Amino acid sequence: MLDLHCHILPATDDGPQNLEESLELARLAHKDGITDIIATPHHHRFLRLYRAEILPRVTALNAELQRAKIAVRVWPGCEIQVSNLELFRADYNAETLCHLGDRRDFSLWEWPWEPRLHPDGEREHVGWLLERGTRPIVAHPERHAFFRDDGARLDALVEAGAWLQITAGSLLGHHGADPQTAGEAMLRRYREVVLATDSHGLKRRSGLSEAYARVEELVGRERADEVKARAASVLAGFSGPEPV
Ligand SMILES: [Fe+2]
Repeated sequence: MLDLHCHILPATDDGPQNLEESLELARLAHKDGITDIIATPHHHRFLRLYRAEILPRVTALNAELQRAKIAVRVWPGCEIQVSNLELFRADYNAETLCHLGDRRDFSLWEWPWEPRLHPDGEREHVGWLLERGTRPIVAHPERHAFFRDDGARLDALVEAGAWLQITAGSLLGHHGADPQTAGEAMLRRYREVVLATDSHGLKRRSGLSEAYARVEELVGRERADEVKARAASVLAGFSGPEPV
């Protein structure tokens, strides 16, 4: 099982404070059936983490995981918040950003929590990325009131080709009633959905297998398998099943 959104790098962002906590998070993930984790530290206007900083941290953590005999592989990635499209595109073109797996195929895109910081032309930006071979994955739309309250906005992004990453904890009720209800509704409405934990350390983590079980309860086994396969395709570099 792959967790494609996880703040697991030690002392890097608001994730684990130290190596011990990162290792414990990996141990718990392994117990849950996770074999691969994409480390997605934040990239936003207060903390701009680029490939050059992320890659060596991932290498170092993998060495520590081996030393501790924890059978989990960590892959490079980043949760990129976009408020300035011009800056994003310059960074993208300079290849300094770390997309999922440090490939170009998929990029985890977080909307700024304050709507006044949202860039104009978000739908066109999905097209801009796809033309360049990168499919954006919208991080936890169910947790954002501006997506919950405006279904047409999310429809437009998905129609343009974006995928949606629903957070395991939302489906399990850890983020309150609104994200839970919205997460369930998005799962029913869109096929282009993947799950991830968005864990931030031992105090904020959720079970991915439990969330897949919840998906199965809600929409059936076949669909739960499809959601899992779609997540796995992110690391396979395969663009995944086509939207139905
Ligand atoms: Fe995150």
